[in-house]
Amino acid sequence: MSEAVAETVASRFGELYGAEPHGVWAAPGRVNLIGEHTDYNDGFVMPFALPHTAVAAVARREDGVLRLHSADVEQGVTEFRLDTLSPESDKNWTAYPAGVVWALREAGHAVTGADIHLASTVPSGAGLSSSAALEIVVALALNDLFSLGLRGWQLARLCQRAENVYVGAPVGIMDQTASACCEAGHALFLDTRDLSQKQIPFDLAAEGMRLLVVDTQVKHSHSEGEYGKRRAGCEKGADLLGVDALRDVPYAGLDAALARLGDEEEVRRLVRHIVTENERVERVVSLLESGETRSIGPVLIEGHASLRDDFRISCPELDLVVDTALASGALGSRMTGGGFGGAAIVLAEESDVDAITKSVTEAFAAAGFKTPRVFEAVPSAGARRIR
Ligand code: GLA
Repeated sequence: MSEAVAETVASRFGELYGAEPHGVWAAPGRVNLIGEHTDYNDGFVMPFALPHTAVAAVARREDGVLRLHSADVEQGVTEFRLDTLSPESDKNWTAYPAGVVWALREAGHAVTGADIHLASTVPSGAGLSSSAALEIVVALALNDLFSLGLRGWQLARLCQRAENVYVGAPVGIMDQTASACCEAGHALFLDTRDLSQKQIPFDLAAEGMRLLVVDTQVKHSHSEGEYGKRRAGCEKGADLLGVDALRDVPYAGLDAALARLGDEEEVRRLVRHIVTENERVERVVSLLESGETRSIGPVLIEGHASLRDDFRISCPELDLVVDTALASGALGSRMTGGGFGGAAIVLAEESDVDAITKSVTEAFAAAGFKTPRVFEAVPSAGARRIR
């Protein structure tokens, strides 16, 4: 599969730039199994990579010029001079790859220019990390072509900086690390404080189960402002509690922490979500490690309720997926990603998949919602060179 993709992207590169690329790289989108909005609170997350990837054909240049093209945007080749790249000056899709080049150079890495052609199969605006996939594929290609010697987690940090500072989106570190570091057949248990990682075997098919992704087709276009508000609320909570980050509030100390927050009702709700969500990630890890995979279902359901009622980032379409899937026999279901639209995940017995898909699709039609896109997610490989 990836050979054919590499060939297509390389040959388009040839048409655009009149030369062969020096290589072709791929970086995946992700779904998050559990651990939502914990990553900017120094907490735990557990994403796995999708088979959907951003692919980049790249050639290095020595003349301080960056040329960018995407198969997914109706726009010709865009050209930049590296010494003119500056944060938040670019409101176009090109801010993602250009931001990565900027972040690498800012960190002192000698990147002298590149020609880049990108093509992605990661659904955009669906909460499946299409942006992180784009950033990581560019970072990995430049890391190889300029022999920078950076590790996956280091590329993730640089890409997060590109997105925070250059693009201007206050995201955490989960998506970039997932794209860079996930492994096929595994979910990634990541401590976002120090980026220590553990690959947890996650082979649902071997146990007769499936994980579905239901893309509600509701684009999370207003998410940035709301995302930033949640983040600021969490930081306020940490301040009021006198800790560096909400990660430092132990689950056993939650009631005491909530009592200290007095009548700060909104902050209390945010704190409750983060502290209980970190505990849910740890619970899922221990269930998976002890082979009790089906028992993670109820934990996913709790996680959704917490995002809906405490963190308040769900929406009617996401709630409908979860409620309908559970009523049709799913083992567990929750929204995944940043919220306000995007996708939900459904854990189900293989034999129930068709009935659940049908029920969700029918429920969406009955509610007058757009037809959702349902696909099975198999834990796939992280970023890699494919040619
Ligand atoms: C988005 C952000 C991540 C993370 C999730 C919520 O995907 O990019 O950093 O905060 O939302 O868990």
